[in-house]
Amino acid sequence: MYLDRRNKIEGWRCRGTHCLLGKMWLSLVSFLILGIVGLHINKTQNALSVEVANSVFGIQLESAQSGHRILEEVRLMRRNGFDISRGWYSDQRGKGSHQNESLDSSKQKEGLVMLVKNPATLQTTFSKVFRTNELFGFYMDVQWHLRRIQNGSLILFVVSASGTAGLRDAASDFSAVGSLIGHHLPAGAHWVWVFVKGGRTLLETAVLDKPNSVLGHLHIPKAQLEQNTALEIFDEKRFKFCRKYDSMGEFCDFDYQRPLLNSDKRYEILTGIPFIITAGNRPDYLFESLTSLMKSPGFQPQNLHVLIGGDWPQTEDLLDIFNFTYSIIPIRGEGNFMRFLYYRQVFSFIVENFPLAPAAILMDEDVRVSPDFFSYFAQVLPVLLEDDSLFCATAFGHLAMPTLFSHKDKVRRGDMQVGWGYAIKLTAIKEALLSWPADGKSDRFYDSWLYYEHIVQGECIFPEVSRVIHFGIGLNAVGTRLETYDLVIDMETESGVHLTNIMDIPLQNWKLSLKKILEDSTLIYGDPCEKNFFTERKNGSYIFSYRCESNSTDFTKNLMLAGDCACKLSFVSTEFGWHDGVTLLRVKPGVDIYFLGVPHSSYSYFAVNESLIWDFEKLSNESQYKIWGYVSFPYQRSAWKVMTDLERQEFLRAFLGEGKEM
Ligand SMILES: *[C@@H]1O[C@H](CO)[C@@H](O)[C@H](O)[C@H]1NC(C)=O
Ligand SMILES: *[C@@H]1O[C@H](CO)[C@@H](O)[C@H](O)[C@H]1NC(C)=O
Ligand SMILES: *[C@@H]1O[C@H](CO)[C@@H](O)[C@H](O)[C@H]1NC(C)=O
Ligand SMILES: *[C@@H]1O[C@H](CO)[C@@H](O)[C@H](O)[C@H]1NC(C)=O
Ligand SMILES: *[C@@H]1O[C@H](CO)[C@@H](O)[C@H](O)[C@H]1NC(C)=O
Ligand SMILES: *[C@@H]1O[C@H](CO)[C@@H](O)[C@H](O)[C@H]1NC(C)=O
Ligand SMILES: *[C@@H]1O[C@H](CO)[C@@H](O)[C@H](O)[C@H]1NC(C)=O
Repeated sequence: MYLDRRNKIEGWRCRGTHCLLGKMWLSLVSFLILGIVGLHINKTQNALSVEVANSVFGIQLESAQSGHRILEEVRLMRRNGFDISRGWYSDQRGKGSHQNESLDSSKQKEGLVMLVKNPATLQTTFSKVFRTNELFGFYMDVQWHLRRIQNGSLILFVVSASGTAGLRDAASDFSAVGSLIGHHLPAGAHWVWVFVKGGRTLLETAVLDKPNSVLGHLHIPKAQLEQNTALEIFDEKRFKFCRKYDSMGEFCDFDYQRPLLNSDKRYEILTGIPFIITAGNRPDYLFESLTSLMKSPGFQPQNLHVLIGGDWPQTEDLLDIFNFTYSIIPIRGEGNFMRFLYYRQVFSFIVENFPLAPAAILMDEDVRVSPDFFSYFAQVLPVLLEDDSLFCATAFGHLAMPTLFSHKDKVRRGDMQVGWGYAIKLTAIKEALLSWPADGKSDRFYDSWLYYEHIVQGECIFPEVSRVIHFGIGLNAVGTRLETYDLVIDMETESGVHLTNIMDIPLQNWKLSLKKILEDSTLIYGDPCEKNFFTERKNGSYIFSYRCESNSTDFTKNLMLAGDCACKLSFVSTEFGWHDGVTLLRVKPGVDIYFLGVPHSSYSYFAVNESLIWDFEKLSNESQYKIWGYVSFPYQRSAWKVMTDLERQEFLRAFLGEGKEM
């Protein structure tokens, strides 16, 4: 039933113009990157000549988008010189799934450009623009990549428009690898740094906050590197790969060893379940995902099938080295529109190639799995397949936040988006395909489309402690969420965790046990954002009821706000995971709070006193203002810290003789 490696079935192989387009697109991207920052690189046979004319334009931090939350934020405005002022903006959390940034080209022009070159060939081996013009989150991706660049590689950092405001902790990493001024830059500075990783700086210069260009010129002769002959001979494919592509971490270490599969563990139920990884042109992310899979007991490589969207030689080369099976899915369009169509093809591919499988496991290329990943699926799959009211089981524990308390041996069921790393029934895949448009403009996300438009019926199983982390930072990343949620979620580190409540999952059992718990719970009323409102309680379970009209466009707002108050702004801004309008948040070991949406939930009868149901809209302006202040406090605190740090950059002004200007 399984396909041969490098599947050549007509229709799925990349043919003609698609492949060509893929390659043209790649070169277009590097051209654009260079164009933006005024970076000119001339390559002669034996040397590289780098010229940077980094012009100041369009300096503004974070676009003001309309949304639900109002938070204080740093905004940089350019008038005669440079101003740092405070403005209001609306938080973008919760809008992540509707964001459309690929289409907004102005946004991508800002940030920090990283260009990596092999000193011996002078070829570009990695490039990315990091959105460090935003204060939150994206600096973590800079850190991730910087760590994984090979020693000896030539790295160029160039700021485009405003890109130093959100460097945050990445600035310390720059110092650690040799930058003199990276740590002292004010927001909006223009900075160029060219250096050898693990070696010395070749050029570092900046203008601080005047509307001038920073100019730099550098001549870099081609390095005469000693060849790693042993590696060339014994590990030729990997050697060639690492000459061409960077940011691969330990994969390019001389003594890299592929992880040994743990063949003692074999979960029979997973043998008939195809495991699909959806990939693109990010081999560095894919390598990390594959590594975590190979280390996770129970991984069966013969079940793995990578579907590459577009023709990306670097991804194919990596999979060839690991001898993993893959197919190429031709892509059309760009951004989220392209993905929407791509995932449709992925679903069709599964139906056509694995028609007899009861379910498939799908995972994106930028997801790290827990050592418990396969053990988890081996336990939840039998229950998933038996229960018609379930369509998926996800490995993503969206409530596994540092501010909540989770049990690794517990699973729950609820309304869910599929998440990252999930098993879905073949019947659900077929159901989705019936209404999935094959064409037409759509910038929706496939997963939120499946969920919000009720394309598939049923609930999902999810773990309290996550079995995956979605670590990749791509098109739709939302900075604030990256550091409060996506990158800090708790993932199980042991393997073989026994799920103790799996038999509660079937619908009838779940309803019975939930009803029993609610009957035994204490009703609590009051201001959820009052200090310690949830946490200062005796062990036990409690019901907190909030107004939730199913017909309102804003029907989850009360849950979001109360949820934020319960777990200090790390709530996910969605109702994901609730079952019949009931969401459990464990705010302290032993203290379970059941958030009950009234009248949406059929358990609404538990909230006996109608006049005490919490409703933000009914509060006085003053109370509303206080709550906004509370839920935005952690962001404000970060923003203030960044501001204060930035305002302290006097040293560099004096050093560069710009003190008078201020
Ligand atoms: C996405 O971008 C397109 C084209 O610019 C626009 O028509 C559409 O309204 C945008 N969608 C959202 C949700 O912003
Ligand atoms: C790179 O160099 C640093 C400092 O010399 C060293 O600590 C690190 O292990 C090296 N990394 C690799 C991958 O060789
Ligand atoms: C690659 O994998 C296939 C099975 O998928 C196996 O038959 C073949 O021997 C493997 N090749 C190498 C070089 O390991
Ligand atoms: C929603 O339904 C409730 C009662 O069923 C009604 O009072 C309210 O006006 C409705 N709201 C909207 C926005 O339709
Ligand atoms: C409350 O429950 C937690 C978790 O079960 C337990 O560790 C703690 O000792 C309990 N506290 C009291 C006072 O019983
Ligand atoms: C509901 O709460 C209000 C306000 O505290 C109180 O006056 C009223 O007596 C309560 N009603 C019931 C039925 O408990
Ligand atoms: C509360 O705010 C709304 C709009 O934000 C305003 O129309 C209303 O007058 C305010 N009420 C009071 C009592 O200030």
